Amino acid sequence: MTIKCVIAAGGLGTRLQGFRDNDKTKVLLEVNKIPMINQQIKQLNQWGIEEFVIITNPNFDSLIKEVTSKAFPDISINYSIQDNPKGISHAFSKAEQYIDNGDSVIFVLGDNFFEENLIQEVDFNKFSNEGGCIIFTTKVDNPNEFGVASVDEHGAVIHIEEKPSEPKSNLAVVGLYIFDSVVMDNIKKLSPSSRGEYEITDLINLYINEKKCNNVEFEGWWVDAGTPDRIIELENLLI
Ligand code: DAU
Repeated sequence: MTIKCVIAAGGLGTRLQGFRDNDKTKVLLEVNKIPMINQQIKQLNQWGIEEFVIITNPNFDSLIKEVTSKAFPDISINYSIQDNPKGISHAFSKAEQYIDNGDSVIFVLGDNFFEENLIQEVDFNKFSNEGGCIIFTTKVDNPNEFGVASVDEHGAVIHIEEKPSEPKSNLAVVGLYIFDSVVMDNIKKLSPSSRGEYEITDLINLYINEKKCNNVEFEGWWVDAGTPDRIIELENLLI
């Protein structure tokens, strides 16, 4: 059983263009003097993850390779280009060549940071036998800005929706997910949403329909560092 980690770093981060003279992509922006992508790999490597696939934007592919391979010469990192930002599930699909049958795949959005090691309680041997997917949620006051999950009393996920105007719960789905290796076939079943993107929530819905999606709720801090305010918040939390 191998655990592989795919990091989505394909977006352009338009909400951060110009912030601190940033003319690159979000994941190259420095967070406490370290490029965000390296902060991300550092976080995940401290959790014990050793094999990475980074999905990059074509304009910044070589720069991302240079920055990450220089900082982590001893870690296995593969790279794959997402030619167009057609959604988070589309970015994920670009890792297909690096995912083997039976792998457990941790999928992380490059701008999501956590206080706790979210995966420390996960029994990967059990997960790889049973398959399915695991999502991670935390209670927020503004669920309409995120994926929102409803969960039954056993922790099984019964509903998930992307940025709903009338959220059914206050459980925000954070940008870290665990999938079985069947996920690469499941992505091929998706169609673009009304906003034209291959949504991560639609992918998770395929698992919910098969009653194969479980939730882990956590309480430590979580930052989705997609705006200047949240980068500054993250810098203060990481000190
Ligand atoms: O932060 C958690 C939230 O992340 C979840 O609650 C939502 O369900 C999920 O859709 C996502 O929402 P965002 O609005 O934050 O997604 P965003 O479009 O900002 O994309 C998140 C990261 O994924 C971004 O840093 C770059 C990467 N990405 C995104 C797209 C659309 C790609 O690599 N390729 C893409 O095509």
